[in-house]
Amino acid sequence: MSDKTFYITTPLYYANDELHIGHAFSTLAADIMSRFQRSMGRKVYFLTGSDEHGQKVEQAAKAKGLTPIEHTDKLVAKFKSLWTLLDITYDDFIRTTEERHEKVVTYVLNKLWEQGDIYASEYSGWYCTPCERFWTEKEVPDKICPDCHRPVQEITEKNYFFRMSKYQQKLIDHITANPGCIKPESRRNEVLGFLRKPLNDLCISRPKSRLQWGIELPFDKDYVTYVWFDALTNYISAAGYPYDMEKFNELWPANAHLIGKDILTTHAVYWGTMLLALGLPLPMCIYAHGWWVTGQGKMSKSVGNVINPRELVATYGLDPFRFYLFREMIFGQDATYTKENFTNRYNADLANDYGNLCNRMLPMLMKNREGIFHKTEATLDQTKEIIALAKQTKENFVKGMEDFAFNEALEHVWTFIQRLNKYVDETAPWKVAKEGNTTLLDEIFYTIGEAIRFVSVLVTPFMPNLAPKFLAQIGCPQSMNFTIKDLEWGQLPEGTKCGEPKPLFPRIETERIQALKSGKPAKQAKEEKAPKAKAEEVSTDGVITFDDFMKTELCIGKIETAEKVENADKLLKLSVNIGEEQPRTVVAGIAAYYKPEDIVGKQVLMVKNLKPAKIRGIMSHGMLLCAETEDGNLALMTPSIPAKTGIRVH
Ligand code: MSP
Repeated sequence: MSDKTFYITTPLYYANDELHIGHAFSTLAADIMSRFQRSMGRKVYFLTGSDEHGQKVEQAAKAKGLTPIEHTDKLVAKFKSLWTLLDITYDDFIRTTEERHEKVVTYVLNKLWEQGDIYASEYSGWYCTPCERFWTEKEVPDKICPDCHRPVQEITEKNYFFRMSKYQQKLIDHITANPGCIKPESRRNEVLGFLRKPLNDLCISRPKSRLQWGIELPFDKDYVTYVWFDALTNYISAAGYPYDMEKFNELWPANAHLIGKDILTTHAVYWGTMLLALGLPLPMCIYAHGWWVTGQGKMSKSVGNVINPRELVATYGLDPFRFYLFREMIFGQDATYTKENFTNRYNADLANDYGNLCNRMLPMLMKNREGIFHKTEATLDQTKEIIALAKQTKENFVKGMEDFAFNEALEHVWTFIQRLNKYVDETAPWKVAKEGNTTLLDEIFYTIGEAIRFVSVLVTPFMPNLAPKFLAQIGCPQSMNFTIKDLEWGQLPEGTKCGEPKPLFPRIETERIQALKSGKPAKQAKEEKAPKAKAEEVSTDGVITFDDFMKTELCIGKIETAEKVENADKLLKLSVNIGEEQPRTVVAGIAAYYKPEDIVGKQVLMVKNLKPAKIRGIMSHGMLLCAETEDGNLALMTPSIPAKTGIRVH
């Protein structure tokens, strides 16, 4: 790994409107990558910012009765406050209205003008005002903009052009010789496909008669610079070019420009040829990720389907939000956001898998070993397997991250977490404690504790607030400052005393489950118990003792009859044989998922000692256990092979 500073950038967001989760995603990707690289021991320079010139911004300001700069000042303050909320660790925020940027754009324009790469010409074309771009006659046979589908107007005017065509072959050669320079591979092929046709030169000016809000061309005061030519230059202006070459040489070429797939051509082709004309190296990698979509396609204000990141953070907490976006999306492909999908991910991966590991182990450690981890030899085959898997997981995680395969990297960690939960079941520390085998107990506890530390260090870039809290729970002092680079098995010191166990990912109760428990329609149940999952707000420690658990009598029941409850779409009245003299009457909210005739004769898991309750005038005496399925249905819990009716389950 070289010593060069890892220079990573996000697109500059248009300062014409507020940001949604699609924008947040690009910035979070850069933040996670930056945190990962820092944890790998590299110096990082993380740049983000705002794209403030051009027609869109000018029009948005006008609509609000503000000057463009008043308008962008307001939006930039909002952008920055969103980045603070999302815990974005950027090193620099560049605004294209800043002097340090404008003077570099002027320098670049002058340089290219002087070397003959910019020329004036009469131009006639079809102009799309909202997209601020010209189309050729052939590209708009129906006089409709191929991008935004709005009418285009024919305009003839003098303009200035950048000789993009002159650098076409050089660009093709570069992309062909450097397979990693545009990722994923499919996007690289897309660019090479685009470059098979002859490139037109790029119109880089806008007459002031049409647009005032831009950087003036140094060689013609009647024109301002095309907003993309201006904005792309930010990647070198923020890096110091050409006035602080020491800084520039340390940063350039950028390691990664993270962008969405919608702005691939501008980055791969416009920016690539601009850099070739300036005689500068091209970025090492342009990574184009996919879009977050909802049922109605790509998020956009005009469609009215934008998801506000602030709302998700307020509802679910920051770290689950950060985690979800990257666990769910295969980086490079589109992903669909739904509330249900978010809840399922949260409950399965965070509440059940990761959260449960700590919740299960720490109370046992406190009860049996005064909360202290003792380092012992690995004697069990399963322990040896966990140690080997931990090392393998780190390797796979690092490989995935280096390749921007965020979801794959997380997948490896979750495979490990699931194996760990199985390890707890297999080694049954509660039994070992009863037998009094403290050496074995120490081995099991240390293995789990050390594995939790491994997992937490790896996922810290994704969950920078909660992962350190897991470390604190197993007793790692902050001063130990574990990094991914130095992560080795066995670094949890002998005699570490665990901290206070506290569930960090309380389950989100879905409306369906609440309705089922209460026997009330989902909406009513939701209103009565608004499910907020802000980890910090939960006061109970959520952990129960074995004795607590034993208070719940679970048993196997057999459904003898089932019928619909009048005027209640969701309820079935069941009589369930649990080996008592009389079958129990149970009212269950499962009518939407099961027909009465389909469940008669089925064995089910039932809570036997639940206080009877009247539901729709019927006394219900017990509760059936159910779980939501992956496709959002409901599964009645039944024994995997026929069991004795009425037998206790534990
Ligand atoms: N200002 C230009 C970029 C100039 S870079 C020199 C721009 N700005 S933008 O605000 O419209 O969008 C910036 C980026 O936001 C997109 O390229 C993409 O990275 C991200 N996204 C916007 N909507 C998105 C989704 N629905 N999903 C994922 N990312 C999306 O283009």
